[in-house]
Amino acid sequence: MHAISMNRRIAVLVSGRGSNLQALIDAVAAKRLDATIAAVVANVAGAPALERARQAGIPAVTIAHRDFASRDLFETAVVAELRGRDVSLVCLAGFMRLLGRTYLDAFGERTLNVHPSLLPAFPGVDAQRQALEHGVKIAGATVHFVTGELDGGPIVAQGAVPVHDDDSAETLAARILAVEHRLYPEAVASVLGGGWAIQGRTYVKRVDGDGPGQTRRR
Ligand code: GRF
Repeated sequence: MHAISMNRRIAVLVSGRGSNLQALIDAVAAKRLDATIAAVVANVAGAPALERARQAGIPAVTIAHRDFASRDLFETAVVAELRGRDVSLVCLAGFMRLLGRTYLDAFGERTLNVHPSLLPAFPGVDAQRQALEHGVKIAGATVHFVTGELDGGPIVAQGAVPVHDDDSAETLAARILAVEHRLYPEAVASVLGGGWAIQGRTYVKRVDGDGPGQTRRR
């Protein structure tokens, strides 16, 4: 997999609160992220993230999965919306829906997700509680490409936080969330900036001064 041409128009898929969406909006406004958020799409009507989009003047679209008879029909509608907005990168930000073949065939190599653990540890829901119950001393967040495997695609960026003895799932989640808000815009900027490749399952950036097309291998 190689860097694909990027027009810097992105969409953000959400289901809930939207604090990572807000981090992306703020990064664009502060010019830390050179991108246009062309649409925010929610699969749940009334998701608070939609209001954040409206406040920022971004088209806020609801495509409620409940309105569709199958996953395939839901994903067909999402893909049509994204194509209509001419986006070249999709960012999942608290999007609580598994994406299947119909979506992945269209945008599978162009979709990022942020997950509140140091993957491959603790995929799936309640990652912070899983980490706490496992007794790890370091936790964190991961931005990764989306594939058919749950939280399993190539890793773009990770950030770590300590786990404190007196942490609850909530205090740990809050510490990790602060990392997510810094990490996600940085990772999106890295991907949009191009000059990367996926070697095996490793995301690598070209070293400055290398010839065209050459990539670094760890
Ligand atoms: C974040 O913890 C993210 O890592 C996970 O879902 C949560 C979404 O939070 N995938 P928000 O909606 O961005 O505030």
